[in-house]
Amino acid sequence: MTHSRIAGTGSYLPTKILSNKDLETMVDTTDEWIFTRTGIRERHIAAPDELTSDLATAAAKNAIESAGINVDEIDLIIVATTTPDKIFPSVATMVQKKIGASNCPAFDIQAVCSGFVYGISIASNFIKAGASKCVLVIGADTFSRITDYTDRSNCILWGDGAGAIILQASQEQGVISTHIHADGNFETMLHVPRKDNGTDTVMMEGSAVFRMAVNTLDQIVDETLAANNMQKSDIDWLVPHQANVRILQATAKKLDMSMDKVVVTVDKHGNTSAASIPLALDTAVRDGRIKRGEVLLMEAFGGGFTWGSALVRY
Ligand code: UT7
Repeated sequence: MTHSRIAGTGSYLPTKILSNKDLETMVDTTDEWIFTRTGIRERHIAAPDELTSDLATAAAKNAIESAGINVDEIDLIIVATTTPDKIFPSVATMVQKKIGASNCPAFDIQAVCSGFVYGISIASNFIKAGASKCVLVIGADTFSRITDYTDRSNCILWGDGAGAIILQASQEQGVISTHIHADGNFETMLHVPRKDNGTDTVMMEGSAVFRMAVNTLDQIVDETLAANNMQKSDIDWLVPHQANVRILQATAKKLDMSMDKVVVTVDKHGNTSAASIPLALDTAVRDGRIKRGEVLLMEAFGGGFTWGSALVRY
């Protein structure tokens, strides 16, 4: 059977930083409240002329370089995003143009914060089916463009960024299993309703979403371990979606894992939606924490609701 492995990782963050102190001048909040309730200190914000596809392209170039492949080897591009440059064409086709990867299929997927886990799932199944050999999977979002900076319960959370991996066909097992779910019944607890004037922004019932996220991620941990007959101690690293450090702590507790085995970037990145897992992965690969052969559990929960996990031997 053909397996798939992560051949390289990359990421990109816009230059501008929005700190909690900056937010204190914009809404009725404090650095202390934000840090205590979320673990966030700062987040990056895209420049006015910087598109989601620009962030995605920069991350993709880093991943291609780290994998040591030629652009022509890429035979599928998947971008997980909720904030495309335009309604169409897809961000994936814009990335294809910008990196010069002509004539491979390219499409976006929209599973909000779970988008990257959905992306790995789709890519590894394309590889398993023999339809692809070298897939560029990107998570990229510019949530600052759909954030209401007068809503203090919401605007403190989001940041912009992009992360990418090259997933290649391999004889060795890299992706061990993926598990993806959705339940549209919770539509209005976390959504961006359409407004007539075009100023569509994120609306979230924060505390209710928080509770759902913790409980659902508990279940996805059980599901992933049971599917592979594995124990909690078999996981070397938790590489979670970065929504709130208190959610990360709850999942670490469920795994009997100390926080130094959890890749935490929410303090510096905020919640970058589909970009958060590949950004965290690339951060910990590049700083030498995550090493080849180690087992990583990636998991996410987001709007829809959608949720899922990917268990990967790096
Ligand atoms: O990535 C997709 C999934 N998303 C998530 O998982 C996010 C889940 N939710 C959360 O992370 C948290 O619910 C929030 C960070 C959004 C909010 O934290 P919370 O501990 O649930 O606070 P809360 O909404 O229950 O509000 C507590 C209090 C309220 O005041 P009262 O009613 O107790 O007087 C809020 O008005 O905190 C107040 N508050 C703030 N105070 C200062 C809300 N936002 C702020 C703020 N600064 N920015």
